[in-house]
Amino acid sequence: MSGFDKDWLALREPADRAARDERLVEGLACYLEKMERPRLLDIGCGTGSTLRSLSEHVPEETSWLLLDNDPLLLAEASRRAGTDRRIEFRVHDLADLDALPLDGVSVVTASALFDLCSERFCAALADRLAEEGCGLYAALNYDGVMRWSPQHPLDDRMTDFFNRHQRTDKGFGPALGPDATACLAGQLTSRGFTVATGESPWQLDGRTAALHAELLKGLREPLVAAGDFPETTVDEWLEFRLDAISRPGASCLVGHRDLLALPG
Ligand SMILES: C[S@@+](CC[C@H](N)C(=O)[O-])C[C@H]1O[C@@H](n2cnc3c(N)ncnc32)[C@H](O)[C@@H]1O
Repeated sequence: MSGFDKDWLALREPADRAARDERLVEGLACYLEKMERPRLLDIGCGTGSTLRSLSEHVPEETSWLLLDNDPLLLAEASRRAGTDRRIEFRVHDLADLDALPLDGVSVVTASALFDLCSERFCAALADRLAEEGCGLYAALNYDGVMRWSPQHPLDDRMTDFFNRHQRTDKGFGPALGPDATACLAGQLTSRGFTVATGESPWQLDGRTAALHAELLKGLREPLVAAGDFPETTVDEWLEFRLDAISRPGASCLVGHRDLLALPG
C-alpha cells in the first residue's frame, strides 16, 4: 500500500481519529463558532478523513471544500460524503498555491500532509494565509519518533534511516518530514498568527495489528533504499517486528504533532 492508497488511508483513519489533539480541535471549533459563515478548505483531503473527524465538532452550518490532486480519492471522498450540499470537492494541484481557492475560507485544514512538503512550500502557504486572514489546522504530521515494545537493538537506527528518507522529495521539493510542525509554527508565528501545537501519537497495540503490520511493510522499501544495512538485515529486523505484533503487551508508538494557527 502506498501513502496515498485508499486502503491505507482507511486503515489509518481510526488511529488518526483517536490520536488528534482534542484541545486543538476544541480551539478550532470555538474559533469557527464566532464566524458568521464558517468555511473550511481541506487540502490534500484524500478520501475525506479530516471532514469525517471534525464534522461532529465544528458548527453544523460549516461549509467545506475538499481539495486533492487525485480525482479517484476525491471521488471516494464524495461517495462517502453523500449528497450534503455544504460539502464541495475540487481537483487541484497544491503546486499552484496562487490559485488556491481561499475566498471566504475561515481555516485551511490538512491531515498527514505537511511532513511531505518543503520549507519553501510552507513559507509560500503561510504568506497566502496571512494575506487572506485564514487560519490553519495541520494535524498528524509525523515527528520522527517510533518506539516499540518489545525492543530490538536496531529499532533506533532503523528509525533514523527512515527519518532520513522522510526528508526526500515527495513532490513539493525536499520534504520537512519530522520538522514539519516546527517549521509551520515558526513561519506562522513570524506572520502574526497565534500558534498552538499538541502531540497526536498513534498508540498501536493488539487492536490495531493490521495497521501496525502495514506500517512495518511500508518501511521496507525506504530502509532498503537507504542502503545502510544489507537487505537481509532489514528483512530480519522486519521479521522480528512483524512476529512481535501478536505478543501479549506488544506496542508501538508513532509520534505525530498537530498545530492550530489562528490569525491575529
Ligand atoms: C498521506 S495522504 C493524507 C490524506 C488525508 N488528508 C488523510 O488524512 O487521510 C496525503 C494526501 O495529499 C494529496 N496530495 C499529495 N500531493 C498533492 C498535491 N500536489 N496537490 C494536492 N494534493 C496532494 C494526496 O493525494 C493524498 O490524498
